[in-house]
Amino acid sequence: MKKVITYGTFDLLHYGHVNLLNRAKKLGDYLIVGLSTNEFNLQKNKTCFFDYEERKKMLESLRCVDEIIPETCWEQKPDDILRHDVSVFVMGDDWEGKFDYLKEYCEVVYLPRTPEISTTELKAKILK
Ligand code: CTP
Repeated sequence: MKKVITYGTFDLLHYGHVNLLNRAKKLGDYLIVGLSTNEFNLQKNKTCFFDYEERKKMLESLRCVDEIIPETCWEQKPDDILRHDVSVFVMGDDWEGKFDYLKEYCEVVYLPRTPEISTTELKAKILK
């Protein structure tokens, strides 16, 4: 079984997230999402609308997502890849090049982001 992993906050789940996850799943047979915890988001200066358990429930309801693990720090990725026997690491291309150091553990793929949608933009539009 070919396992794929991706990471993110996935707050206010939107079609950009769903596109990314569906394309990630197509790169293998089993998709793991490393979901940023509330504490890790604070470290990244991200304020979430939905907390970890709520974001997790949304992701669990997607057909393409097989497993969700907590993302608690930047350094856990090599260990996650080895422990879960992951073949492909995927992120949107806003992260292009940032995770190339993981190429010694598995294939690293950056997928084009869906244009004109992000949680930050969504929040700003709703507030208007
Ligand atoms: N993503 C994407 N297309 C979008 C928005 C996000 O492909 N339009 C991808 C990101 O590249 C990342 C994953 O979805 O791999 C999770 O991104 P996240 O940062 O949680 O979502 P954003 O909507 O970008 O949120 P924010 O505005 O808070 O950064």
